[in-house]
Parts: sequence; structure tokens; C-alpha cells
Amino acid sequence: MSNVDVLLGEKRTFYPSKEIVENSNVKQWMDAHDIPDIENLYQRSKDIEWFWGEVEKDLLTWYSPYDKVLDRSDAPFYHWFTKGKYNIVHDALDRHIGTPTEHKVAYIFESEQGNVTELTYRDVYNEVNRLANGLKRLGVGKGDRVALYMPMIPALPIAMLACARIGAVHSVVFSGFSSRALHDRIQDSGAKVLITADAFWRKGKVINLKVLADEAVKDSGIEHTICYQWAQYDVPMRKRDIWWHDLVADQPHECETEIMDSEDPLFILYTSGTTGKPKGVVHVHTYSVGLALTLKWVFDLKPGDVWWCSADIGWITGHSYIVYGPLMLGVTSVLYEGAPAHPEPNRLWEMIARHGITVFYTSPTSIRMHMRFGDEWAKKDDMSSLRLLGTVGEPINPEAWMWYYENIGKSRCPIMDTWWQTETGCFVISPLPIMSLKPGSATRPLPGFNAEVHDPEGRFVVNKGGSLVLTSPWPSMLRTLYNESERYAQHYWNKNGDFLTGDIARVDSDGYFWVQGRGDDVLNVSGHRIGNSEIESALVSHSSVSEAAVIGRPDDIKGESIAAFVVLRMGVESGDELRNTLRNHVGEEIGKIARPDIIYFVNDLPKTRSGKIMRRVVRSALISQEVGDISTLANPEAVKEIENVVKHNNYYS
Ligand code: WTA
Repeated sequence: MSNVDVLLGEKRTFYPSKEIVENSNVKQWMDAHDIPDIENLYQRSKDIEWFWGEVEKDLLTWYSPYDKVLDRSDAPFYHWFTKGKYNIVHDALDRHIGTPTEHKVAYIFESEQGNVTELTYRDVYNEVNRLANGLKRLGVGKGDRVALYMPMIPALPIAMLACARIGAVHSVVFSGFSSRALHDRIQDSGAKVLITADAFWRKGKVINLKVLADEAVKDSGIEHTICYQWAQYDVPMRKRDIWWHDLVADQPHECETEIMDSEDPLFILYTSGTTGKPKGVVHVHTYSVGLALTLKWVFDLKPGDVWWCSADIGWITGHSYIVYGPLMLGVTSVLYEGAPAHPEPNRLWEMIARHGITVFYTSPTSIRMHMRFGDEWAKKDDMSSLRLLGTVGEPINPEAWMWYYENIGKSRCPIMDTWWQTETGCFVISPLPIMSLKPGSATRPLPGFNAEVHDPEGRFVVNKGGSLVLTSPWPSMLRTLYNESERYAQHYWNKNGDFLTGDIARVDSDGYFWVQGRGDDVLNVSGHRIGNSEIESALVSHSSVSEAAVIGRPDDIKGESIAAFVVLRMGVESGDELRNTLRNHVGEEIGKIARPDIIYFVNDLPKTRSGKIMRRVVRSALISQEVGDISTLANPEAVKEIENVVKHNNYYS
């Protein structure tokens, strides 16, 4: 985001209408608690034990009560709602049975080809129970890990809920990841069952998921693969493979919900860190309270709403805001299988009109892509059903914010720019619909959350960029990294007990936060987190590569694009063919989203005297910034070479 752009955003303020304020869920809660205004709400909620104890009463149902809201004795391994007995599926499904919600539509599902199916809460409940019974038959029980590699179809939330119901821990791997990435995650989590589908559609093409899954299962600990028949694609079935429909054929529609401790794990979700090895973020059943609260307060969901979060369930946004959050609130959600601009650029807008969506949540990348298609594509459809909009995943530049506000929300719908992470489980810095908005700012930490921006000495700073830290724990926080509790404690927490987000941000004089992006070596491409070193490891695993440095470069649409500088082994010929080979190799190692947009071949990379590649220096040379002090480099001439290749060959794919 350029400085001019930020200034533009900072100068404009948008105030909520009286109608929105008066009808909002958060205002109702404030009235019920004698809280006169929002400043008072922020103040009162600084007592996080009081706050979370109070809000959970409206949101969670317990098998038996907890004794303490928060136990800090084992910090940074915080324990919430200790000794409570709970299961998130009870809140997401069971408690709706026997109420009017039972026959309400939980998911309006639309396939890429345009077929629409509706599933009521009862339908979801029945299917979850049948699969849960089937999983039990295969010997899956409490604490066992189940890997899910599935398209965006109703079977995915059903599979997640079936695992959670019997106390198994699901680990969803985004269907755009490669066999190799899936294999590594299966091995790390120790999953013994994999659930996948035959194939699915993406941009009109069939993706053979089962074939990729078979490759991943080789030499892994998987004992059974359950395959959901979706695209009617002919796939080879091996001895360990079972069709989903065969597994559930004789299973009853009832299955007892496993009574869990509030701190029992619900899922593992792998996310990129600064090393080549992804981190297995562990969330527990009671992470639910954060989702239900934020969805109810920020997006103000009420029983009549039709909610659409356009993220993929393979990422945290889908876990929290397509699966668990909306089901807990008993609302109707849209689930869409396919690509956002297929077959025409107005697919999203046309779906908003056709399904009467009232609240829509998407990413800045998607907004920027639609801006580029031209305003006329956003004028074709009647989107008057909308009342609130949202974004997530990356900073939204004020220009894109304004476009979204004017063209999609017709200057009526406030935009909730929600900042959060896989680790936080739910929104942390986000507006409430009753607040004034500044385009490009995620506003302030929500009630119950505390954040600050620190300088390198750990001092709180205002109006200056610094590290974004969270200064108190919150109930939907990750509890640990799977099998790496030491890494969890060391990586995320400083000695003052602050949680390190890895982001750079600035707080303005009104206390509004402006998140600028990652401060560590993690890329954010179209809102997807990918570690620089993950891509570098993939590149050097190719026989022709000896060294690689991967850099994020500002991109008008995707936020960041991926540039790779590659040193080849002696005797290897460089050229476009090798560029393609290497791009495809990264695609196979990680997934298509990690393929470099541009590859430069160089003879050397700038290194310290101890041999560490200086990405900072490579980045400055790439984006023609002042490289700064290079006196500590062992090979300063490498910088010149980079500047030269960047200037002379712009190899875009
Ligand atoms: C970035 C996605 C600016 C940030 C929910 C964070 C954002 C990373 C925003 C987490 C936002 C997310 N404004 N940046 N509203 N939301 N980010 O784990 O850098 O996939 O650290 O979680 O996305 O990505 P993750």
C-alpha cells in the first residue's frame, strides 16, 4: 500500500447509520449489560475473565460447567474454561434439533456448473451421524487424527463435523496443495484415515483429486482412504479404499456425541512459518466461543440472514466462518464449489442477487481482480439484499475499499476489515458495525482482545511502524503446535508474555490499527500464507538448482507476487524451458499457489561471511530500493548482478 493511498484512507471517515447501530446485536448486548457506549465496552472488556465468562453464557452450551474462565499458571500454555465438558458439534448441530432451526437451510450449495442443493440442519445432522458411525466402524476414535483432502462441497463440513462428533482430530489440507504437501502433513499428524473425493471442477476443468491422494498415501501411515463420489469420475479403488456411500449405507442417523474436555483438540491446521516445515496449529473445542461472538457482533448475523464467506474451507477462514461459526448461530450459509469469475466475471455478484445474500465476506485480492474487470460487471445484478460487507487475508488498499463500498455495497453497507490469523482462530482487530470506519484500517482490537505495536526495544509506539503483538490471551487462541510445544513457546511468545503475530502495523492517533503486512519471512500471495523458505527448499530439491532466494514483490492484484533468484549447479543450461520445469517442480512439491511468477538465474546470491543468504538485500535490489549497508557481505558484487538481471530481463510467465 503506498503512503499516498494510506493518507487518502486516513482522511476519510465513514459513520454508521442510526438504523444499523440501533438494530445491532452488539448494541443489544451493551444495553442488557448497562454499557452506555462503545468506549465503555472497550474499557469493561479489559477484564478478559469477566468478559469471556459473560459472553459465553449466550453462546455455548455445556455438558457440565467449567470452574475457571482462564488458568494462567502454565503460560504460555493457557487453559480456558477449565474442567468444563463440551463438544463443539453439540453447539453447531445437536442443540438445533427439536427447535425451528432443525428444518432451516444450513447450506445453500452451488456447484461450479450451477446446480443448487439445499441442506437443512437436520440433513447435515443426519449425514454427520452416518459418517461418524462409519468412522467408528473403521476404528477411528477420540484423539485419532483424520486427514481431509476435499473440494468445496457439503461433504467437507460434514466430514469435519463427523470427526469432531466422535472426538477425532481433523486435519484439512487445502485441495490446491500437491500430493507431496499432503503426504508431509499426513505423516506429521500421524493420520490413519484420509477422506477425499474422486474429482471436482475448477474453472471448467476436472481435477483428479483421488489420483493425487493415492500418490500422497504411498509410504504413509494411512490405513483407509474414504472416497466421496462427486464428479462421477472413474478412479481406481484399492484394497484400503472405501466409497463413502458404501461406508455409511447401513449406518443409523444417530450417533452419540463424545463428551470432551474443553481443552481437547478439535483440529490441526498446517500453516506456513519462517522455516521450511509448516506449523501444525492446534485448536480446541472451545475455540467456538470466539467464532460465535465475532460473527454475531462484527457481521451482526441474525436468524434471517443469508451469509456468504467466499474463502476455501482448506484455510482457517473457512473452518471458522463457513463451518463452525455460522452453524453455531443457526444461520443459512452459501457454499460454492468453484472459481469466482467463472464462467463470467460477475459470477459472485450474480450469486449474491440470486440467493439474496445479506452479508458477504471476501478477500482484497478478489476485490482487486473484480475492479480490473471493470465497473460494468458489478452493475449487471441487483445486490440490494446486501447490508454488510467484509474482507480478510491481507491489507486492503483504500482504493479497493472504496471500489467495494461504492460498487458492491452501493455506499450503504459498512465494510468490516477483519484482521486475524490461523493462530488466532477468530477476528482480533476488526470494526464493529456501530463504529466509524477509515478505509484501509482494520480499526481497533475487538472487545476481549488487546493489541499493541512495539518498537524493537519492546516499547509501545504510536504513529510509527512496529511489530504487532497481542498483549493478553484469548479463548480461541491456538493451544500449541502439534508435536512441537517447544517451538510454540519460543516462536510466538516474548519474555513479557506478548504474543508475536509476525505482522508490521501502525496505530494512529485515534487508536486505529493499520496493518502493513508480514514482518517475517512469510509471503502473503492472494491472502495465502507461504513461507519463503518453503519455496526455496522446493527449488533446491531440484537436481539442477544449487541455491535459491525467494522474495515477495508488491503486486497490484495479488498483494504480493513470488520472485525467485536461482543459482544453478555447474554445467546446467539456463533458459525458459528450465524456468517452466522449476515452476512446475514447485507446483508438485507444494501446490500451484506457490509457483514463482518470475525466476531469475544468477551466478551468486548475497551472503554473510557465515554463508547465510541475505534475503533483505536481495529484496532491496529487486524492488530498486537503497540496498543499505552491505559491508558485512562476503560477496557484495552479487548485489550488482541482481540489479542487472532485474533491469535487463523481465521474465513474467
Ligand atoms: C494477513 C487468515 C491485513 C496478516 C485469516 C496475517 C491481514 C496473515 C488481514 C494471516 C487484514 C489477515 N489486514 N492483513 N484484515 N487479515 N492478514 O493465517 O499478515 O492465513 O498475519 O489467516 O494474513 O494469514 P492466515
